[in-house]
Formats: sequence, structure tokens, C-alpha cells
Amino acid sequence: MYYTNAKQKLDSLRDRNDYLILAFESSCDETAVAVTRGREVLSSVISSQIEIHKRFGGVVPEIASRNHALAIDSITKEALEKAGVTLADIDVIAVTYGAGLLGALLVGVSYAKSLAYTLGLPLVACNHIKGHIAANYISAPELEPPFVCLLASGGHTYILKVNAFDDMEVLGETQDDAVGEAFDKVARVLGLPYPGGPEIDRLAKLGKPVYKLPRAFKGEKHLNFSYSGLKTAVINLVANTKARGGEIVPEDLACSFQTEATGVLVDHTIEACKRTGIKTIALAGGVGANSCLRDSLVSAGNKLGFKVLLPPKSLCTDNAAMIGVCAYEEIKAGIAPAELTLDADPAL
Ligand SMILES: Nc1ncnc2c1ncn2[C@@H]1O[C@H](COP(=O)(O)OP(=O)(O)OP(=O)(O)O)[C@@H](O)[C@H]1O
Ligand SMILES: [Mg+2]
Repeated sequence: MYYTNAKQKLDSLRDRNDYLILAFESSCDETAVAVTRGREVLSSVISSQIEIHKRFGGVVPEIASRNHALAIDSITKEALEKAGVTLADIDVIAVTYGAGLLGALLVGVSYAKSLAYTLGLPLVACNHIKGHIAANYISAPELEPPFVCLLASGGHTYILKVNAFDDMEVLGETQDDAVGEAFDKVARVLGLPYPGGPEIDRLAKLGKPVYKLPRAFKGEKHLNFSYSGLKTAVINLVANTKARGGEIVPEDLACSFQTEATGVLVDHTIEACKRTGIKTIALAGGVGANSCLRDSLVSAGNKLGFKVLLPPKSLCTDNAAMIGVCAYEEIKAGIAPAELTLDADPAL
């Protein structure tokens, strides 16, 4: 009975853009809740656990899920209040069900399912990565496929040809570490706190790219990435320099690593545009907040007359507004409501 009604309600909304979505994101260490309408954000509240995990040098999954459970109720109330609405005004519940940490995802999924059932509302299950891409629709509501999307985050590195929201082709992907993971690992080698990406970004501004670091797949035609060699080169450089009694200049090493790590992203994205004939580039994911990547993508893209869309940094890292807009796009594209048996899918 619940599902039949939920399906009817969702079908009645497909051609509209004036209904309200209450969205949840808890895939890693941010508990986030947002209220969205179409591509518009009415409120977006994020409770970050960075300070809690900092002392462990990375996210501890069990601690993350416990803190999601503690925060989600009050964050939901705050998101509703900030949007100036109540639960009675909400039409759809949206939630990230993967990829991410199992225990962390389960908090958002369970909470969203219980709300959907209690309120008799359709539940839309969202893919976190598609959510990152959807962040571009918030900052550029006029954006329509086709476009090339560079998705650079903590766990993923992709160049995608977005033909439609439910039709994407992978043009390039990492063969090992994700670029965000490489930023975090290199930061740890330099003794910087978690998360390392913003720390390297800050430090690199004070340095020069004087250290020679390798580029993977040089001269090859494909658009894939590999970050493990670059990461190992940094680790070896630090260890060998110390063994010789020398000193690393952290600002210069941060700058050298960042230049190489982001340079290959920019080169492959531009090449993807040339090969597909698409002239619009969208940036997505936490590493999309990197100032060097943003600057070089704009400058390389503009030189060739491409339109480069940069969502604000707050929409690049994890948030629930992108999940609300992702759900809206999925509804337009015809997604069926999720069953109440919906489970978290860490490897989605
Ligand atoms: N200014 C920055 N420069 C470089 N990296 C950054 C910056 N800001 C954040 N990051 C990196 O972005 C990553 C977090 O991004 P995001 O929240 O999208 O990842 P995630 O949700 O953990 O992974 P995924 O989205 O792939 O599941 C971290 O690796 C972090 O170091
Ligand atoms: Mg993410």
C-alpha cells in the first residue's frame, strides 16, 4: 500500500519543478540535510566531523556512523527551519545510498526510510557520485547535457561524457588511487593534518614546483589516470632526502605535487572535449575545491573557447543540496521510488 501510493505521488511530480525535496547525505564524515526545489536550494546544513577524526589522521568508520546518528535529528530540524518549512510541506525524501562507508550510509538510509514511511512520501535513492555532478545544476541552473564532467573526489577520479542525467560514459578513470586520496596521503607524509587536500592547497601557494615528479601513462592515448606512482615518488623523495641528511621544502613539494596531480586532470579533460567536440566542462567532487585545479582548468578551457563551470567550493565537497538536486533530475528522468527494503551499497 505504501509503495503504490509513493509511486503514484512520484509520477504526479515528474513534469513539475515546484515540489520540495528533503535530502540526506551521510556517506562519509559529513552529516548533511537540505531542502531543495527544482535546482534551487532552500537550505543546506552540514555538520562536519573533521575535528573528531583529525586526531586519527583519517575517518574512523565506526565513529563516523555513531556521530551521524547523534547529529541527524537536529540537523534535519535546522534544515527545515532555515528553509522556513515543516515536514508537512515536504513532497519527496531523497537519500544517498552509496558509495561510501557502510555504517555511515546506513544512518542516512534508515532515517530517510522511516521518514518516508511515516509521512507516506516517495523515497528516492541517490548515487553519491551523481550527486557530485548534480552540484553543477545548482550553480549553473541553465546547464543541460551534453557536457564533459571532471569528477575528482576523495574516492573517485573520472572524466565523464554526460549525455543525459541517466546516460553517462566514462572517458577516463583512475587505475589505482583517487586523486583526493593521493592529496590526503601526500599531506600525511608532509606531516599535515587531515583532510590533506585543503592543507596542500594552502601550502602550495607559498612554494614553487621545483621537484621533478613523474607523470603516469606519458605519451599514451587513453585518458586514464594513475596516482600511486606519483604518491610513491613523493614518499621516496622525502625518505631519500632525509636519509642523505638533507631537508625537504614542504611548500615546494606541496606545489610540485599539486601541479602534477592537477595538471594531468586538466590535460585529459581538455583532450576529452577535443575528442568529443563538447565545449562545456563541469567540475565536481571535493578536489574540485582546489584553487590550482580551478585556475588552470578555467585558463586552459578559456584559451580554446570552452565554457568551464566551477561550482562554489562548498558545493564541491560533500553536502545534501547536491543530493536533493540529484533526486530532482532522477525524478525527471523517470526513476522509480525506492522500496522500504532499500539497503546501503558501499561499493555503488
Ligand atoms: N582545496 C582542496 N584541494 C585538494 N583537495 C581537496 C581540497 N578540498 C578538499 N579536498 C579533498 O577532497 C576529498 C573530499 O572530497 P569528497 O568529499 O568529495 O570525497 P568523499 O566524499 O570522501 O569521496 P567520494 O565523493 O569519492 O565518495 C578529500 O580527499 C580532500 O582532501
Ligand atoms: Mg564525496
